Amino acid sequence: MAIETTLILIKPDGVQRGVCGDIIGRFERKGMQIAGMKLMHVTPELAERHYGEHKGRPFYDGLVKFITASPIVAMAIRGPRAVSVCRTLMGKTFGHEAEPGTIRGDFSCSKGFNLVHGSDSAESAVRELGIFFGDGEILDYETCNAGWVYNEEDLG
Ligand code: RTP
Ligand code: MG
Repeated sequence: MAIETTLILIKPDGVQRGVCGDIIGRFERKGMQIAGMKLMHVTPELAERHYGEHKGRPFYDGLVKFITASPIVAMAIRGPRAVSVCRTLMGKTFGHEAEPGTIRGDFSCSKGFNLVHGSDSAESAVRELGIFFGDGEILDYETCNAGWVYNEEDLG
């Protein structure tokens, strides 16, 4: 397992509720590195590219309306097993089912207002990062504490 980079979105409810710092801090404290980050509006076209797999489902129109209603924070988060580590930090999809200690478990009691998105596979991460970030917007840099957060054993 190499170092992975995954797409995390703080959805409009997270920005509106003023909990971006709390959410970002959870990824940082876990040992994940912020490789890209921006506040942005999601256009209907971008929403369709991102959530195209759900088109036709009963919740799709509401999901697009929600994600386009107010700015989001898009992040490229990097670390060992970042895709699964970040999904675990987020918790189950619906806030009312998510375990306490997870982002959704601690901040959400809702199906739709579930605060965060995270890529669900390495392949999805590559595709979704390409939707939200352009050339030069995801950075390579070393953090001073990396040697105390994980080592070769964690990459195997
Ligand atoms: P996400 O893509 O946002 O990270 O969430 P996820 O993988 O945990 O869940 P997914 O199945 O991909 O669903 C995408 C988003 O659609 C909304 N949803 N609503 N009302 C419903 O039955 C329903 N099902 C899904 C959720 O907001 C979910 O995050
Ligand atoms: Mg999903």
